[in-house]
Amino acid sequence: MPERLLFPEGFLWGAATASYQIEGAYDEAGKGESIWDRFSHTPGKIWGGDTGDVACDHYHRVAEDVALMAKLGLQVYRFSISWPRILPQGKGKVNKAGIEFYDRLVDRLMDAEIIPFVTLYHWDLPQALQDMGGWANRDVAYYFRDYAAIVADALGDRVRHWITHNEPWVTAVLGYMTGVHAPGIADSRQAVLAAHHLLLSHGETVRALRDILDDATQLGITLNFSPAYPATESPEDAVAAQKADAFSNRWFLDPIFRGHYPEELQERFADEMEEWSPDDLAAMAAPIDFLGVNYYSRQVVHADPSQRAGYRSVRVQESRYTDMDWEIFPQGLYDLLTRLQRDYDPAALYITENGAAFKDVLEPGRRVRDQERIDYLHDHFIKAHEAIQAGVKLRGYFVWSLMDNFEWAYGYSKRFGIVYVDYETCERIPKDSARWYHDVIAENGPLAKENGKGTGVS
Ligand code: FCB
Repeated sequence: MPERLLFPEGFLWGAATASYQIEGAYDEAGKGESIWDRFSHTPGKIWGGDTGDVACDHYHRVAEDVALMAKLGLQVYRFSISWPRILPQGKGKVNKAGIEFYDRLVDRLMDAEIIPFVTLYHWDLPQALQDMGGWANRDVAYYFRDYAAIVADALGDRVRHWITHNEPWVTAVLGYMTGVHAPGIADSRQAVLAAHHLLLSHGETVRALRDILDDATQLGITLNFSPAYPATESPEDAVAAQKADAFSNRWFLDPIFRGHYPEELQERFADEMEEWSPDDLAAMAAPIDFLGVNYYSRQVVHADPSQRAGYRSVRVQESRYTDMDWEIFPQGLYDLLTRLQRDYDPAALYITENGAAFKDVLEPGRRVRDQERIDYLHDHFIKAHEAIQAGVKLRGYFVWSLMDNFEWAYGYSKRFGIVYVDYETCERIPKDSARWYHDVIAENGPLAKENGKGTGVS
């Protein structure tokens, strides 16, 4: 029997979702329009013309979904709040039904003894605020803080863990620089401003919530990371990797933990960057209790002076890739976690997202044999365990995702869930990985060597 890798006592195992990706009920019970409603209703933006109008219909299936989480043995659940459900116009009048929805969800989680982790912003900005310029408008940072205070007031007696933003880098870069996400703007000046205001809104919200919530409250932010490796041993590629790291990883890390932007970034965006006020930079660096880490893959880069960035990504031919065409590279998780602890020393870390999309097949008998997903998770769990042994203060792990859902610009074409969703009926069918994960949680760790194979899933 291979040895089992035990995680520290109290380590939290869970799964994550986001409001727009699962809730549906896009215009029900007083909810306002979000930028993702507008974007997905715009022809040509989403694969196959998919929208989040119904999604997994979680809004109407909360009881069933919490029961499912309990059955899987989840100890924590990370979900996000839809800002326009709470404030249809982004500010001003509160929609009571919106508050009540999340209030009931939290109550059900408490009854099931599942700890709620709340993300305040997972990309569904009220469209009314986009009409004022969205994150490129400084005022939105303060509207966000005010919205966060309303949610904290309503749920703060039960919710102890708060994440201000999910992947603000993605909001700024995909939303405002490349335009492949809502609001679909391609303007690097707006992107740099949006990033600045997202960071400001984070810091201002941390300050505000500290006043409202009691001392047991843990405040943090979730960032996406893509560790950068040089394609060759040449000095040029080493510089390329530094630049890629500044852009992909340190753009948000450095202001939050060090109170300034990385130098390489100021060079790359010399035309867009401003003389930022020292007060802004101080606000962004408000102390936090944990860092949320989203890790899916790495990047391998090659110096390329013909690119504005000075480098380009290369594909590692011998590697395996997921259905997103993301390289499977578990070692990157170890390298990332140990580096974060060494260079930034956060008080605690959580992996707030890790997982993989594969071409799942629902077999007769309603079974999904997703061995590749089991292997992916298994190999990443092992690396997380190694990182803890090396001194990383990792406190929990959220698999992305609890169930298949609306994968942004890819619509429903990519399945990340450990639970399969039949989009015709919205039926939930636990995949083999869900059963396997149940056992990992029950034992507080995976088996060391079997690499997921032959795990005896029945
Ligand atoms: C992350 C997002 C999450 C999901 C995964 C696959 O960037 O935070 O909502 O789409 O990627």
